Amino acid sequence: MSDATASVDTSRGDWNARDYARDARFVADLAASLVDVLDPKAGERILDLGCGDGVLSQAITERGAEVLGMDASADMVAAARERGVNAVVADGHDLGSSATIAGTFDAIFSNAALHWMKRDPQAVVDGAYQRLVPGARFVGEFGGAGNVAPVQSALRAEAEVRGHDPDALDPWYFPTNDEYRQRLVRAGFVVDQLSSFERPTPLPGDMSAWLSTLAGPFVNAFTDGAPRRDYIAAVRARLVDDLQDEQGRWVVPYVRLRFVAHRPGDTPSA
Ligand code: BEZ
Repeated sequence: MSDATASVDTSRGDWNARDYARDARFVADLAASLVDVLDPKAGERILDLGCGDGVLSQAITERGAEVLGMDASADMVAAARERGVNAVVADGHDLGSSATIAGTFDAIFSNAALHWMKRDPQAVVDGAYQRLVPGARFVGEFGGAGNVAPVQSALRAEAEVRGHDPDALDPWYFPTNDEYRQRLVRAGFVVDQLSSFERPTPLPGDMSAWLSTLAGPFVNAFTDGAPRRDYIAAVRARLVDDLQDEQGRWVVPYVRLRFVAHRPGDTPSA
């Protein structure tokens, strides 16, 4: 099989929770303050949309809220359950209609997940609106315009050199502030806060580990073994001058879009 015809999985379901914990624990650690923004109250029912391995769901539960985690990855949901989080496998695009998610919520929380829901971002926002009681809030952080831009460009360029269509592989939705604000308003939300900020992020290991673990839809397009290793090495080589410092540490230019919105209506009683 040529590289260009190797199987391609662009879904968010293809995760390995152990690799993620090793190579990307910082994603939850750096967003711990988003739980303060959510300000969960005892007794509230809160949905963690794209809960991953449940680290932040657990932090919300520790504040006394009742949390349901949802994630498209069965491996991530299993890891969340191992932490004691009540979690289900479901795709964020189906949030409004999913039978595995019961009822409505006092808040929806989402960290580092919405950028994986590229197929129909408006359906995700509309679904969140439908799942909230009047007055309830939607609090999120994910990749905004320019997020990991040099890495994304290198992944796309090396895929194209090897005969792949980069648009078909690229799984990420990194909107501008204006675009995402418009989506929230179109769904019916009142936007209380929305802004983007740069978060240059040192990696715990080598860029190749980040690429293997976090850029699955690109790297899985290449047959296991030499083709995949060569692709990762070529992407890394494109990045080394700009993203690796003199001590050998890799720093990736993350950009976060953070927002707080609410569904209009009476605020539910605490
Ligand atoms: C992010 O959290 O911004 C991210 C994670 C994996 C790939 C790309 C971006």
